[in-house]
Amino acid sequence: MTEAGPARAQPMPSDAPSLRRRLLALLAPPLFLILAIGALAAYGLALRYAGHVYDRWLLDSARALQKLVQSGEARGELNPQARLLIEFDTEDRSLFAVRSLRHGLLSGDASVPMPAMLPARDDRAVFDDIRIGGHVLRMATVTLGAGEPGDRIVVSVAETLHKRQILAREILLGTLPIELALVLLALGVVWLSIGRGLRLLDPLVAQVGARNPRDLAALDTAGVPAEILPLARTIDALLARLREMVRLQERFIADAAHQLRTPLAGLRLQAERALADPRPETVRDALGHIERLAEGAGRAAGQLLALARTQAHERAIAVAEPLDLAALVRECVAERVPEALARQIDLGYVGPAEGVPMRGDAVLLREMLCNLVDNAMRYGRDGGQITVGLQRDAEADALWVEDDGPGVPAELWLRLGERFFRVPGTAREGSGLGLAIVREIAARHGGRVRFGVGSTGTGLRVDVRLPQT
Ligand SMILES: Nc1ncnc2c1ncn2[C@@H]1O[C@H](COP(=O)(O)OP(=O)(O)OP(=O)(O)O)[C@@H](O)[C@H]1O
Ligand SMILES: [Mg+2]
Repeated sequence: MTEAGPARAQPMPSDAPSLRRRLLALLAPPLFLILAIGALAAYGLALRYAGHVYDRWLLDSARALQKLVQSGEARGELNPQARLLIEFDTEDRSLFAVRSLRHGLLSGDASVPMPAMLPARDDRAVFDDIRIGGHVLRMATVTLGAGEPGDRIVVSVAETLHKRQILAREILLGTLPIELALVLLALGVVWLSIGRGLRLLDPLVAQVGARNPRDLAALDTAGVPAEILPLARTIDALLARLREMVRLQERFIADAAHQLRTPLAGLRLQAERALADPRPETVRDALGHIERLAEGAGRAAGQLLALARTQAHERAIAVAEPLDLAALVRECVAERVPEALARQIDLGYVGPAEGVPMRGDAVLLREMLCNLVDNAMRYGRDGGQITVGLQRDAEADALWVEDDGPGVPAELWLRLGERFFRVPGTAREGSGLGLAIVREIAARHGGRVRFGVGSTGTGLRVDVRLPQT
């Protein structure tokens, strides 16, 4: 026999679900979302700082123009060199306007608007976001005193935002690959860490893999990670159930061996007796014993097989086929009619002729009924009465078998159905398994078995209640 090694040694089937792939699939979308949010935040920040830097330059231009106006150079039209200096920009369009509050535009571009608010003092400046011809521009405004009282000269310089956007975009493009690399690195770390983390399972896998199939002791859970403990406990629970099953099987085998050994010993004894004393009457008597013993052994073997069959249906009922319980009961009764007639037993059935449908295992249910009728026939009296009844109510099917024989003392009812239990002093042969089989089959169908006295005040009445499915 080849024993399976630790599961890790076997290659993983390609279509098996992978913890790694699943975790990566779970982690990747949020990480890329974080990347996108980071990029947006970086772009916003970059725009802000680019704004600060270029605002300062814009203010420098406004201050230079202020100086020119102060020195009297730019009261009228600005000379071309100065104009070039103010307006020169390779990236953006620059405009300026010099206005007197009293006399209006002195020089520059009339499309440059007045600021929303004038600076409070001449050494202060204000910035405005304005629109000219569909373009957004940034405007710096400073003021200076005019020659006339009550007048002020307002100097504004404006430029489009192109440079600022280019700078912000460059900053963004510079950081994006770094952020992307970080996300990929994080995913790589996750990939490797899962592999390392799963190695914590190795001792458990090795422990289960190296187990002798006969060793059903609980697992050693020392060092098993807390997250895996539920799995280890589930395996332990399964092992406990297996231990119980093996124990039952062993008991069953021991009981079965014991059950068969007794008639076999008897057979041998009778054979020896016949061999030792070849007189015809001794041989005849020994053969009679041998026949009865062989019949008993055959019966015991049959009952053991029936019990084994009911136990094979480990969980509830394995086969739940539609069947007619009334028809099944009548068949079982009919089988015993010839024997009943021969023994002058009044064997009767009370209940519907057919039409009691239920779901269950027909083979097992027949086994159960036949055992009950067999007991009544076996332990009831010749010339007596046996009634098999069936009645359906709202929740269950009530089935009963009663005879008018000696019955079983009430204090022993609890023991009926124990394997190999026979009422002391029972004359007829039997293996003591019939009622155990009945109980087992009733339980498989969710039912219950009860014992009582027959309706004539004697005999045994067995009630089986099978809930409707
Ligand atoms: N109708 C009955 N009347 C009187 N005693 C009964 C009746 N049915 C069962 N018993 C008692 O209960 C015992 C257990 O019955 P059970 O059917 O389990 O085993 P068994 O009949 O001895 O053997 P087998 O396995 O062959 O059926 C019987 O040995 C008998 O003593
Ligand atoms: Mg029996």
